[in-house]
Amino acid sequence: MSRFKRLARAGVERAESLFDAVFTPDWNPFYQLGALGWFFYWIVAVSGIYLYAFFDSGVTQAYESVEYMTHVQWYAAGVMRSLHRYASDALVVVMVLHLVREYIMDRLHGPRWFAWVIGVPIIWLVFAAGISGYWVVWDKLAQYVAIATSQWLDSLPLFGEPIARNFIHDSTLSGRFFTLMVFIHIAVPLILLFVMWIHIHRHAHAKVNPPRGLAIGMLTGLVVLSFVHPAVSQGPANLESVPAVVGLDWFYLFLYPFLDDYSGIAMWLLLGVATLLLFALPWLPGKRPVAAVVDLENCNGCERCAVDCPHGAVRMAARSDGSAYLQEAVVDPALCVACGICVGACPTATPFRRRSALKAGIELPELPLLALREQSLSLCQNLEGNDRVVVYGCGHGADLSAVAGASVAVIELPCIGMLAPSFVDFMITRHHVDGVFLTGCRAGDCYERLGARWTEQRLAGDRDPYLRQRVPRKRIATFWVGADGGAALAEELAAFRTRLRELHAAEAPVVVPRHEAVSHAD
Ligand code: HEM
Ligand code: SF4
Ligand code: SF4
Repeated sequence: MSRFKRLARAGVERAESLFDAVFTPDWNPFYQLGALGWFFYWIVAVSGIYLYAFFDSGVTQAYESVEYMTHVQWYAAGVMRSLHRYASDALVVVMVLHLVREYIMDRLHGPRWFAWVIGVPIIWLVFAAGISGYWVVWDKLAQYVAIATSQWLDSLPLFGEPIARNFIHDSTLSGRFFTLMVFIHIAVPLILLFVMWIHIHRHAHAKVNPPRGLAIGMLTGLVVLSFVHPAVSQGPANLESVPAVVGLDWFYLFLYPFLDDYSGIAMWLLLGVATLLLFALPWLPGKRPVAAVVDLENCNGCERCAVDCPHGAVRMAARSDGSAYLQEAVVDPALCVACGICVGACPTATPFRRRSALKAGIELPELPLLALREQSLSLCQNLEGNDRVVVYGCGHGADLSAVAGASVAVIELPCIGMLAPSFVDFMITRHHVDGVFLTGCRAGDCYERLGARWTEQRLAGDRDPYLRQRVPRKRIATFWVGADGGAALAEELAAFRTRLRELHAAEAPVVVPRHEAVSHAD
């Protein structure tokens, strides 16, 4: 990661960690922005369906039907209207934060280009859905938005007849055109749903539901806001006059005031360039991953790598080498981000195997298992004291080099999920170290999405390959911390080493004085 990105990331993480303290990492909304986007989408969809039941899509009746909902049926349809409005606003907020966050966290290069590029049309669709929503109420704001939008569209040579002509007079606005506007407001969100589905299509176990408590909290907040500050219309549209002042929704309509000062073409150019720049971002310089490779001689077709890969890059196929096993793993290099989580899942990735045979069924060419074992052994062989620790950490968390020392060896992995539990077993039960310290990104915010979760489950015995019972748990520590957590990491490591020294003192054989030994024997 570049120095700029590391600094930016540290800043963001520091700000977000304040939310950790309030919400706990599990409920921190910043770790759930994509899932919250889905959640707000569903609120918008359900409230929209309810509103449609009472909405009259005729040009002269639309305003009246919305007024009925807002003032007569205020306790149900009125609240639904406000929920529809505020959840749409919330969708824009989480979408923008999600975009900025994925950029700062550097989650757009390599195979991740797909989610990023599909995210770009999502922005257009969200705004198209929201802006068209303001038309259908047919109040003064709707009039302003409809006329400004159609004039803006007319600045492009798209339509034979300028569509702004529909709004010259009440008599020129046909019911058919108004129904078309309502249809657009229903069709665009449906297309958006489809594109959102494609957006997460490549993600295994994509987070599309926020934790229940967070969802209930967000919904409660929106309902309270709907009662305290209900969404209302701004007086009926009247094409005979130009509305002097309208209140704008700054989440969706922030560009509209610029249309007064700049030409429509200039605004399209600006948006076009911004869109192209967004499309191009994943291909700006960044580290290109070298995909995992399968070694059929060591693959028994157990499927664990395919199940654990967070990016859907491994699929199982019929055996191609004539072996007795039925399946083999196949990696799609276009999808693989080289996180190594599949290596940590593979039953053959064990350092207990003979040196000559140490090759896993699936390996990262840039960090083969044999090299990882050699590095572990060579760095640990000269450690001093009875609190010797090897720290395995991921390259996306805190800077590990700062904690290396005479008793501490550090080894950086692409993701902590790459480390099979047998490595922890090997280092401790073969007495290469007194303790193993595993660290990675902040709890709930793993860069590779699932590495920390799978690691915890493997250590707890809830997921294959699990850590064997014989390994003393007191000699293992896990600590999840972000790029800004160097000091916290050092503190936690120091505490772990203190525990190891105490363990050593407690486990040291008690030397019984000779004369006492004799009297006992008596
Ligand atoms: C309605 C708007 C959006 C929703 C609901 C949404 C939702 C999601 C979800 C649920 C994920 C998977 C998260 C996970 O399981 O870890 C995701 C990933 C992602 N999103 Fe979005 N997204 C939206 C808009 C965008 C936009 C506008 C961009 C950027 C242009 C974007 C970029 C990404 C990227 C790069 C990832 C992949 C991250 C990774 O591979 O770890 N998203 N999104
Ligand atoms: S390294 Fe393995 S787990 Fe990670 S993306 Fe590639 S195949 Fe999937
Ligand atoms: S986890 Fe290892 S043995 Fe199992 S299918 Fe994947 S590569 Fe083959």
